[in-house]
Amino acid sequence: MSSSRSVGSNGSVDPRSKHFWTTRDMPPQDGKVVIVTGASSGMGWYCAQALAEHGAHVIIAARSLERCQSAASLIKETGVRGKVDAMHLDLSSFRSIVDFAKEFKARKLPLHTLVNNAGVFLVPFDHTQEGFETTVGINYFGHFLLTHLLMDKLKETGPGSRVVSMASLFELLGSVNWSDLEGKSAKESGLFEYSSSKIEIIMFVRELNKRLRGSGVEVFASQPGLVQTQLNGRKLDHGKLTSNLVDLATRVYGQRAEKASYCLQRPASDPTVDGYGGSYFSPPWLWILALNLDHAGMREPGNSLARDEAAWARLYNQTLLIVNSKLAEKGLGSIEAV
Ligand SMILES: NC(=O)c1ccc[n+]([C@@H]2O[C@H](COP(=O)([O-])OP(=O)(O)OC[C@H]3O[C@@H](n4cnc5c(N)ncnc54)[C@H](OP(=O)(O)O)[C@@H]3O)[C@@H](O)[C@H]2O)c1
Repeated sequence: MSSSRSVGSNGSVDPRSKHFWTTRDMPPQDGKVVIVTGASSGMGWYCAQALAEHGAHVIIAARSLERCQSAASLIKETGVRGKVDAMHLDLSSFRSIVDFAKEFKARKLPLHTLVNNAGVFLVPFDHTQEGFETTVGINYFGHFLLTHLLMDKLKETGPGSRVVSMASLFELLGSVNWSDLEGKSAKESGLFEYSSSKIEIIMFVRELNKRLRGSGVEVFASQPGLVQTQLNGRKLDHGKLTSNLVDLATRVYGQRAEKASYCLQRPASDPTVDGYGGSYFSPPWLWILALNLDHAGMREPGNSLARDEAAWARLYNQTLLIVNSKLAEKGLGSIEAV
């Protein structure tokens, strides 16, 4: 987290006291280029739509190019003034991630914001192309690689560039399996794997933000509460008891994806949070009682690992080693520590 948090860089009101932020608070985004992963549906789609509505050039990046294209068409039909493009990105394959970064760079565009939103939850047990358990592979390792591959673009475009990564309220249940980050010993793609991927995302965000201080790039994390999307509806592995409980809870308490996406939209667009890198945007813990009126306030994650700086550095270094060894196995080059 930033050490100078009392006043925003523009000297205005402390953004931590700003509650009830909505899309209506978004300033014009004209001239900005934003990649939103997993914007073919759910909260990513609403985030992409809102940014394009405010003038940004948005790139929808997800594993099915066809779904990305129809998501882009739907956004255009809403009459946005920004440009909307679709690109294929499969976070379960390092080759696809490397190809995506190359293709994006070939377009010679700046990159103001990378929104790492894509994710999977309680899916049938499987592994990614590099042998990671699916959940940690897509949610954590895939975005770790993507962020590093696009870092030069973000730095070149800054100051003021941002990375925004999607966590979850399940971060609270997460822990780091230091002897098996890849999930080689996992027996399922369950709640443990999901929760771990999400606390690892928060730790990565905070370590990266610390390393990037003074570079013109800031990094934020978000969590939306419980939301009615395909993720915890039709995409769940309904053979699991946990999936059915989550499905039921979402039907009863889940929020609309549009409103829930404010937690991504704000760190992706609000200039008043400049200088607050490392912050976490989330509804209040008593979010059901609070009627979810405030989805984009700045709060603290519940898990103590989110405040353990030594653990962030250890995780970052271990992850970098693993990612580079997987890249080398496939002849895909390497990434450098930030
Ligand atoms: N819904 C909730 O209650 C909730 C709560 C906390 C956090 N979250 C987080 O919010 C984020 C967005 O989820 P959502 O609820 O909006 O669900 P969603 O509608 O299922 O969106 C997930 C997106 O991720 C994409 N995706 C999945 N696997 C991918 C891969 N291998 N490569 C590239 N893209 C991939 C999906 O593409 P496809 O259409 O191809 O599957 C989809 O566009 C996730 O990170 C999730 O963990 C959700």
